[in-house]
Amino acid sequence: MEIQEISKRYSQLAESECCLSCGGAINYAEPKPGEVCVDLGSGRGTDVLRMAESVGKTGFVYGIDISDGMLAKARRTAEKLGVPNVSFIQSELEKLELPDGIADLIISNCTLNHAANKQAVWNEIFRIMKKGGRFVISDIYATIPIAEEYKNDPVAIAECWAGSVTRSEYMQHLADAGFIYIEIIEESAPYAKGKAEVASFTIAGTKDSCNCCN
Ligand SMILES: C[S@@+](CC[C@H](N)C(=O)[O-])C[C@H]1O[C@@H](n2cnc3c(N)ncnc32)[C@H](O)[C@@H]1O
Repeated sequence: MEIQEISKRYSQLAESECCLSCGGAINYAEPKPGEVCVDLGSGRGTDVLRMAESVGKTGFVYGIDISDGMLAKARRTAEKLGVPNVSFIQSELEKLELPDGIADLIISNCTLNHAANKQAVWNEIFRIMKKGGRFVISDIYATIPIAEEYKNDPVAIAECWAGSVTRSEYMQHLADAGFIYIEIIEESAPYAKGKAEVASFTIAGTKDSCNCCN
């Protein structure tokens, strides 16, 4: 039910101009020629196409999304622009249709808060990342725990607030997935969203070495 509601809402937004992001992950990601990159919740495909240009012909970029409308829009744009080194895959974040250790770089913007099982998503991020790979992820967290009455409300989750967890829960998911080298790149002041108070942040991390925090 929840995933269908999310997919429906985003299919309706696919052709709109409205901004769906909550941070600047792409601006810090620095994809390099030849790298394999993944965008979780790729939406209209804008960040995927930007990364495709950076990684060039020897690299490849996967966009992952659940929404038919978003995937259709992203695929149409890639075809129109003649971008060959991208693929948009329909998949839930908790069970990525990608092999182990494929990604040099994983980005995401304002998507992970929608996932029902956030620990499973972080476990998947760890699984598909290459040794020495990295992530740069923009998302929101709740500064005050989301009230029980909204936590499982699919509409409120699809509005990008009710699915958010507290900062400490968020960090615990990363740690439990195996990420120990983590850097907070940017973090907003708390602000009201729906019936909640949230903050946005962009975090970066690596799988097995501290090359993001010196
Ligand atoms: C707020 S939009 C952000 C889109 C894009 N990253 C951007 O910044 O413009 C969230 C996107 O994540 C997708 N999404 C939400 N929940 C998802 C899930 N559980 N699995 C896969 N995609 C999901 C939605 O379809 C939507 O395209």
